[in-house]
Amino acid sequence: MTNTPLKNIKACVFDAYGTLFDVDAAARQEQKALGDNWKVISDVWRLKQLQYTWLRSLQGNYISFWNVTEDALDFALASANMNDAALKKRLMDLYLKLSAYDEVPETLKSLKAAGIKCAILSNGSPEMLDAAVENAGIADLLDGIYSVADVGIFKPHPSVYELAVEKLDISAAHISFQSSNGWDAYSAKDFGFNAIWCNRFGQADERLPSGPDFQITNLTQMLPLVGV
Ligand code: LAC
Repeated sequence: MTNTPLKNIKACVFDAYGTLFDVDAAARQEQKALGDNWKVISDVWRLKQLQYTWLRSLQGNYISFWNVTEDALDFALASANMNDAALKKRLMDLYLKLSAYDEVPETLKSLKAAGIKCAILSNGSPEMLDAAVENAGIADLLDGIYSVADVGIFKPHPSVYELAVEKLDISAAHISFQSSNGWDAYSAKDFGFNAIWCNRFGQADERLPSGPDFQITNLTQMLPLVGV
């Protein structure tokens, strides 16, 4: 890591889930039905969702993130002995309306005002991402919403990061990639992006090749790092 701000950043590309949108929001809203274990169930749901993206990418068995998310929820509910179809449906519906973290709109506004393009690059299916963006009221602040559906494999496959370069028509050296997922930030840096790990959850450093240029704890802190 360095202390020198990044130079000549023309676009900021954001991971979606956990970075812009609160992945615990669905289970939190169903706390009553899920009980005291709601956070554990939410964590298993998220971890299993990510595992399935990696496993399916290795297997060559891509399905949409929506289906992966549903499979992971089935696993999480079954692990907690809660096979409740109505609750599952409510949680899936809520996943389309995850709230954005508080600082997200202002951060995107500041970047845009400085002439920096903003985009999402996510495992999410286009329908899921459109719904979350709409719900958060940030559509006008984004220049693009890019989904792995276009390449048929999940992060951290390099073809996913390449998609943002192609869509924005800006070289990786002029792009700063932000993710709250350590593995995603490390992989984006390994691909060739500048990378900022928004380590919201105080996770330990990953033991993976490369490493982010900066670690922050909320997105507001990225502004001076990209020259805003
Ligand atoms: C995404 C997951 C990794 O939005 O959070 O791509």
